[in-house]
Amino acid sequence: MSDRLFIFDTTLRDGEQVPGCQLNTVEKIQVAKQLEQLGVDVIEAGFPISSPGDFNSVIAISKAVTWPTICALTRAVEKDIDVAAESLRYAKHKRIHTGIGTSDPHIRYKFNSNREEIIERAVAAVKYARRYVEDVEFYAEDAGRTDNEYLARVVEAVVKAGATVVNIPDTTGYCLPSEYGGKIKYLMERVDGLSAGRAILSTHCHNDLGMATANTLSGVLNGARQVEVTINGIGERAGNTSLEEVAMILKCHRHIDIETNINTTKIYPTSRMVSSLMNMPVQPNKAVVGRNAFAHSSGIHQDGVLKNVETYEIMNPKDVGLDDNSIVLTARSGRAALKYRLGVLGVNVDSDERVDALYQQFLKLADRKKEVNDDDILMLAGADAAAS
Ligand code: KIV
Ligand code: ZN
Repeated sequence: MSDRLFIFDTTLRDGEQVPGCQLNTVEKIQVAKQLEQLGVDVIEAGFPISSPGDFNSVIAISKAVTWPTICALTRAVEKDIDVAAESLRYAKHKRIHTGIGTSDPHIRYKFNSNREEIIERAVAAVKYARRYVEDVEFYAEDAGRTDNEYLARVVEAVVKAGATVVNIPDTTGYCLPSEYGGKIKYLMERVDGLSAGRAILSTHCHNDLGMATANTLSGVLNGARQVEVTINGIGERAGNTSLEEVAMILKCHRHIDIETNINTTKIYPTSRMVSSLMNMPVQPNKAVVGRNAFAHSSGIHQDGVLKNVETYEIMNPKDVGLDDNSIVLTARSGRAALKYRLGVLGVNVDSDERVDALYQQFLKLADRKKEVNDDDILMLAGADAAAS
């Protein structure tokens, strides 16, 4: 039987922290309901102590969503945990996500503390959160730069204190995939509570060096069973691991044999919704959801795709909720692509001579314009028909 991977979406917490991406409560409910449709297991709905807006949104999302677990973030501070528990009171399934920095720079500069005291504070926070909820996740902030031996002691202590999930964030997006995967493997082997199945490890990777998805995958291959992701990879600085990339990697590489609950056909509509509500355009070449992700523009590629999509497509656009691939006509497109598009537009060109003539007209136009759209093609076909 394949292993189950839990999808923890933090679009409404880590994603929403991005300047300019703030949503009001009604918009957050809209996104949360869409995430429920998409099939995410956990929705991190906010950081309730941070503002009354966040507090009220966690309450509203808890009421609006039934199936996924609703999670609220806190620092390892009792007041934060009290407020998070209060905001989750209507949630059917609830989780408190508490934690503290564990790397030496965090311990020294943020907390002016030492390693032993940090473990004590971590344990106290988990025990305190367990007084309110059964499901407590602990984050070891900057785990990516935390010494593995010390990190294993932290993880062991918080699992003993009652944490059900331990999040290993690469907060600064620094780790190499081999390093991050190695860290997860090390913890899986050294921490008794993990091998005994009392808790699972979670990945939480930032994308500062463009390695968030690779690091997340490496974490999963080494034993993590929850991934923290956002729609379109939005998040602090260069963003977080994007949900759509992880979901489609696991769908395309079936041999990994790990299942999620994601309904991938909801990926594209969710991406569009988040992009437009957050005013955050998706880069055209973004994997899976970018405008060009399924667009073939060179003549050789278009010719291949028209013969058989398997030549240049590793995923079916329908699997991510797109109607079809798109053939973008540019000056590099070939005759076959032009003929195909004409056919789609209902213009059947029977002779090779006519295709040739139209193609010469098309090339002149494509030299002037970057992309030739359907109206241009119909105009060319109309002019050609009138002339012949
Ligand atoms: O990146 C990070 O370390 C975080 C934690 C607060 C989970 O977002
Ligand atoms: Zn983060």
